[in-house]
Amino acid sequence: MTTTRTFTMIKPDAVANGHIGNILAMITNAGFKIVSLKLTQLTVSDAQAFYAVHAARPFYGDLVEFMSSGPIVAATLEKENAVADFRTLIGSTNPAEAAEGTIRKLYATSLSQNAVHGSDSDENAAIESTFHFATREEF
Ligand code: PPS
Repeated sequence: MTTTRTFTMIKPDAVANGHIGNILAMITNAGFKIVSLKLTQLTVSDAQAFYAVHAARPFYGDLVEFMSSGPIVAATLEKENAVADFRTLIGSTNPAEAAEGTIRKLYATSLSQNAVHGSDSDENAAIESTFHFATREEF
């Protein structure tokens, strides 16, 4: 079995609403191993850099403001087919379109406050994980 990695953040809405424990339980129950984990807060400049690829999109300013508005949980996860399986577990970006039983269906409140982030490729998972974690924080 070849394991791969993905990167996630539990976003400020889900942290503020008390969902950290339930979301981490769903992640581990789905077979993901947590290899890095921390409670932290992005500065505006951190959020601008993390989401730089979306800088030209109309919602960029709102996304940066939201993602730096409160604490988040950052985590790197390991599993076979991690990126695709995690995006299945979290559901569609818009919770109104997310499948029943997905993290966003259960815990997201809107398109802009959608509870969790999941990397969209192996390459971005590595970049995003390195953005948040030093090598000594990977297990
Ligand atoms: S995705 O999941 O990357 O394919 O979705 P995408 O539509 O490309 O959205 C990229 C990130 O922007 C967030 N997003 C928004 N934030 C605020 N307002 C609006 N309208 C909005 N639409 C999309 C979306 O949740 C993605 O953030 P991450 O952290 O990657 O989930």
